[in-house]
Amino acid sequence: MTSTQAKPKVLVARAIFPDHIARLEEHFEVVSNPKDESWTKAQLIEKLQGVQGVFVAGERIDAELLDACPDLKICANMAVGYNNFDLDAMTAHGVLGTNTPDVLTETTADFGLALLMATARRMSESEHFLRAGQWQRWSYDMFSGSDVHGSTLGIIGMGRIGQGIARRGAHGFGMDVIYHNRSRLDAALETDCKARYVGKEELLKTADHVVLVVPYSPASHHTIGAAELALMKPTATLVNIARGGIVDDAALAVALREKRIAAAGLDVFEGEPKVHPDLLTVPNVVLTPHIASATVPTRRAMSKLTIDNLIGFLVHGKPVTPLNPSVLKQA
Ligand code: GLV
Repeated sequence: MTSTQAKPKVLVARAIFPDHIARLEEHFEVVSNPKDESWTKAQLIEKLQGVQGVFVAGERIDAELLDACPDLKICANMAVGYNNFDLDAMTAHGVLGTNTPDVLTETTADFGLALLMATARRMSESEHFLRAGQWQRWSYDMFSGSDVHGSTLGIIGMGRIGQGIARRGAHGFGMDVIYHNRSRLDAALETDCKARYVGKEELLKTADHVVLVVPYSPASHHTIGAAELALMKPTATLVNIARGGIVDDAALAVALREKRIAAAGLDVFEGEPKVHPDLLTVPNVVLTPHIASATVPTRRAMSKLTIDNLIGFLVHGKPVTPLNPSVLKQA
């Protein structure tokens, strides 16, 4: 009888590309979720018994789960944002977290501009009107929106995606770009993005279009609430491609209904996939189901990077994009 070393076990908590499962199977004993079933926390914990690595896409990883899953060594998130991870708890448990930066930057920046344009030019609202058979004749002010070219673009959160949006706005649409961020970009990056640093209040008062690309944390919760919406121009638009919870959705629905701002474009929501019911009834908002990174090449690149992290860490001891590398020193 020949003895072979047992392969590490990996759980893939969400449906992913079948050829990517095949690649994982070359290295691991894999349990996958091809039907993309939603598992409760208890079910996830049960499936993680004896498992060293998990592929997740937004599933919550916290101390309670880590306490109950003593074999777990790595949680690889198929997303750049990782507010589903309690990273301190993971570090305390010696569990590595990884995410998928860079591979989605340009695709997500494209979407930021697309959502801004759809919002400013009232594309969803006018399409619904047309589909409902309400278009009888042309009129001079039908669905007049606001200009994108030559306007002032205010970006809150100037990481890689924010910079991508700034470049598109400044170089492609001749926009005057202002930004607010925890820290100022260095001068060369500001020149490259043609972006000027301003305080949050000045940005909200000045921008024609405000785009949110800030990561979610308790500190960024409700970055935009009733008070901030009150500072914006009545003609302004607001676009959120960051995370649910960055905007107070209830306050936004009121501001949209009362036309205190002109329009909003939202790809992310508080408590998604639920959407605040008032947002579903106001006409001046474009709603999309968290698809900013959703192109086939980018979703494949995100899934591949997630797998590279699992293989890199569990097989070679070298993850590609570790979030808490101090865990590597403990190992
Ligand atoms: C998507 O929202 C991501 O964080 O990648």
